[in-house]
This record gives sequence, C-alpha cells and structure tokens, in this order.
Amino acid sequence: MKTQAEKYAELLRKRELAQAPAGAGAIEKQHERGKRTARERVDSLVDSDSFIELDEFAVHRTTAFGMDQKEFLGDGVITGRATIDGRQVFLFSQDFSVLGGSLGEVFAEKICKVMDLAMRTGSPMIGINDSGGARIQEGVVSLGGYAEIFWRNVQASGVIPQISLIAGPCAGGAVYSPAITDFIIMTEKISQMFITGPEIIKTVTGEDVSFEELGGAMTHATKSGVAQLTAADEDEMNDLTKTLLSYLPQNNLEDPPRFACDDDPARNVMELDDLIPDSPNKPYDMHDVITPIVDNEDFFEIAPLYAQNIITGFARVNGQSIGIVANQPKFLAGVLDISSSVKAARFVRFCDAFNIPLVTFVDVPGFLPGTEQEYGGIISHGAKLLYAFAEATVPKITIITRKAYGGAYDVMASKHIRADVNVAWPTAEIAVMGAEGAVKTIFRREIATAQNQEAKMKELIDEYTERFANPFIAAQRGYIDEIVEAHMTRRVISKSLEMLKNKRVDRPKRKHGNIPL
Ligand code: HXC
Repeated sequence: MKTQAEKYAELLRKRELAQAPAGAGAIEKQHERGKRTARERVDSLVDSDSFIELDEFAVHRTTAFGMDQKEFLGDGVITGRATIDGRQVFLFSQDFSVLGGSLGEVFAEKICKVMDLAMRTGSPMIGINDSGGARIQEGVVSLGGYAEIFWRNVQASGVIPQISLIAGPCAGGAVYSPAITDFIIMTEKISQMFITGPEIIKTVTGEDVSFEELGGAMTHATKSGVAQLTAADEDEMNDLTKTLLSYLPQNNLEDPPRFACDDDPARNVMELDDLIPDSPNKPYDMHDVITPIVDNEDFFEIAPLYAQNIITGFARVNGQSIGIVANQPKFLAGVLDISSSVKAARFVRFCDAFNIPLVTFVDVPGFLPGTEQEYGGIISHGAKLLYAFAEATVPKITIITRKAYGGAYDVMASKHIRADVNVAWPTAEIAVMGAEGAVKTIFRREIATAQNQEAKMKELIDEYTERFANPFIAAQRGYIDEIVEAHMTRRVISKSLEMLKNKRVDRPKRKHGNIPL
C-alpha cells in the first residue's frame, strides 16, 4: 500500500510528465520550427498564473497501428480557463509534438468540454491551432470528434466570441472549426491552412504549389479572406488577440467593456473640412477620416489586406466600442464588389450579434460592373451586405462623405433599411448615378443631335451636378437627418451613441432568416 507521501509524489511525477508528454526532444524540435510549445503559447497569452488546466492526464483509447504502445498525457491538447486582462476566457492549445497535433477521440472530448463550459459561463473561446488534422490511426472516431466540435462552434456562434489562432500547419479537419469561428489570426511564414496539402494537389490536379503559396498567412489575408489578421510572430499574435478582445463583450447578453475616455467626445476635427477633393474622380484615403475621429486615433482594422475597397474595424468613441464600415475611395474608387460585400457583411453581422454599434462612412460610386462580377454572383453577394445592414438592430449611424450612388446608397446603411442617424457632409452627392453616366443615359439623343457635342455634354453635366450632386434633395425628404460640417463628425457620433444607448427593436418571431449565402 502506498503512503500518502508516495501518492503525492506520484501526482507530481505525472504532472511533470504531462508538461512534456513527447519528451524534451520534441520541445526542441518545435522551437527549431520557430514555434512555441502548446504550453508556452498559453502562458504567454494569458494573465500570469491565471491558467487552470483541465484533463491534464487524459489519454487516448486506441490500440490500432501500435497506438497501445504509445501514451501521451493530455493526448496532444492543453485545455482550460484563464483570464486575459482580468476577463475570463476558455482555451485549447494543440500540441504539434504529439502525433502532429492530430485530433483523436479524447483530444476532441477535451476541446468539447471547454467549449461547453465557455458557453455555460458566457466566456470567449480561444483556440490555438497547430495540427495535422484527423488522427489517421483513430479513423472515423476522429471524424466524429471533429463534427462534435463543429456542432459546438455553430451553437456558440453569435453567443460567445470565438477566436482562432493559427500557429502552425493546419490541415484537413483542422481548418473547418476555425472557419466557423469569428476571427482567424495567422502567424506569417510559419502557419498554413489548407484542406489538402501540396502533394495530394499534385496527384489530383497536377498543379505545383508550395505550402506557403497554398495556405500561408498572406494567401489567406489577401486572396481568400479566410484570415482576418496576420502576425509577424507569436508575441504579435498575442497582442492582436488581447486588443481584439478589448473591444468585445464576454457574450451576446453583455455590452462591450466601456473604457474611461480622456479624449474630448466633442472635439472638432478641423482638417476634415479640407479633405474631400473638389474633383469627384480624385481619391482620398478614408483612413484619414476614420483615424482622427475615433478616441486617441486608435483604429483596430479587421482584414486590412483583403478587399481593400472597403474598410472594417473596431474603435471607440467616448470610450464605447464601435464597429466601423467604410468605403475606401483609394482602392477601386471604393466600389462594392463581391469580396468587399462579403467582407463587410460578415463584419456587420458580428457587430450586431455582440451589441457593437455600427458607424458607416459612405463614399461609394456603386457596384462594380462586368461579366466577372456578374458570373461570380455579385447579385447574391451584394445582397448579403444589404441583408446584414437591414437585419442589424444595434445602433446604426451613417455618415455620407461624398458619393452615395445607386443601389450602393441603399445598401450602405441608408435610412430606408433602418439606420438610426443619417448625416451627410456638405460635399455629399446622393443620386442614382454620377453626372457623366446620368447625362449620357438620359440625354443621349440631345447630345447626338447637338452641333457641338462636347459643349452640350459639359453643359448638361454642369446642370445635373448643380441640381443633383448634393445632399439637399435627400435632406428635403428626411433621408438625411442633418447636413453637418465634417469637423463636427466626432461630436455627432458621440451624441448619437448617447441617444441610442437604450435602443430596442422587436423582430417578428422566426427560426432564422435566409441570408443569400
Ligand atoms: C496522425 C499525424 C498526422 C495525422 C501528422 N502526423 N499528421 N499523425 N494523423 N493526421 C504526425 C506525423 O506522422 C509525424 O509523426 C508528426 O505528426 C509530424 O508530422 P511531419 O509530417 O513530420 O511534420 P511536417 O513536415 O511539419 O508536416 C506537417 C503536416 C503534415 C503538413 C501537417 O504532417 C501533413 O501533411 N499531415 C497530414 C495532413 C492531412 O492530410 N490531414 C488530413 C487528415 S483527414 P512522427 O512520429 O514522424 O513525428 C482530415 C479530415 C477531417 O482531417 C475532415 C473533417 C471535416
């Protein structure tokens, strides 16, 4: 019979084993790959000494392929809870040194347990991913394990924030759970996400592609839009995660944390009065509008490298979190296309789910014309953004800085789809289309029969511009509540947020809407 001291010693010995279940060599190998170990990742992310681990001694139950000879305490994933800046989060961190971080039955059960706790306690869920996908030795059981996680990701969607950190290769099933979560942050040059790797691609399609090109951070941040943020290293990844969390509530029943604000909410931003170029065809950078308006010029951009014709991100005004959506005239004249519509729609829905008011800056010439867009389904994709803005019940404040043309005027949180406050700068042009296009359409015959066609065009364009390219017609109808000098925008947003703080909207009972996916 063991003594009490021996029993305590056994616990300590097992705990030590669980610290490095694949041995010290495996830790070194992970470091050689430029990666932290699963434990180091958790420790560097959370408040010091706050991590409480669960299921440290869980082990797999497989016997096939010699697995009965292998035992790894924890089964390749570290799970538990901790605090970040004093707020509770649940986490898992996959250990690549154990069977390539691959997911088996017990691994999945551990993740499901923390996801269930996160849901039950209304706490954000953070997954640190570094995995070869389904554990091949466990066959269909690992597929079942994945599906259990996916199901929980879906139940948690819109209830608790879910953040995925991709810190190594993530293959097969390892990418679908992150894809359902709200945000994906990838480390540059080290992490990858793909459903099938380069070797299988080569066999099936003959295509030659490197891991990095196929699924590296830059690929997903610029081309696919799968990743919203990239980090130069794991320290930066942690910083991004903490900053992101600071804008978010713990769950859908809470408001985001409010910070003390030392930046005067009524501050005038005088430089905005000179920002809009006189020529409607000249671009400017919408960041120059957003940055000086928000508290301490702190704008946290989401998906900055994808569909740059629209800007999305978080900021605060008077200490209150807001989600910003803005057309970017500097890229493709700020036009709405497939990618920008989808990017903004997902962001709008996130903000709406988590009680983050939406502030929309509009300078949009319309939807991008052409066969590529039409064949790609711009009708459905553009409708996603329309749907997202229309269904959002959080406070919605819209500022038209310059162009608001055509269908894009309606889509960009117009009064008609129930924005609460719609203001325009004196430089706004709210019309069905730009002057040149309009004149060519409605005065085609007059221009064709004119003696001096160029002069006639100019005369008609000037007349149209004078009559329609302004905010007054929309203001006469009440589509625009106020025309305000640009320098007053910060004050307008702050006062509007104050006015809307108790906004309540009842919606008809239904299972869910049918967004045009
Ligand atoms: C079991 C795995 C594994 C897996 C890797 N390993 N993936 N073990 N199941 N899925 C093991 C390797 O055998 C190796 O073990 C160790 O992890 C490290 O792997 P390496 O290949 O040496 O590392 P690296 O060169 O860095 O390459 C990492 C990798 C590669 C890119 C992830 O291992 C890989 O391509 N793995 C297979 C990926 C894949 O096709 N997964 C899809 C599974 S099917 P030793 O003992 O040698 O150290 C799937 C479908 C689910 O996920 C669908 C749900 C919807």
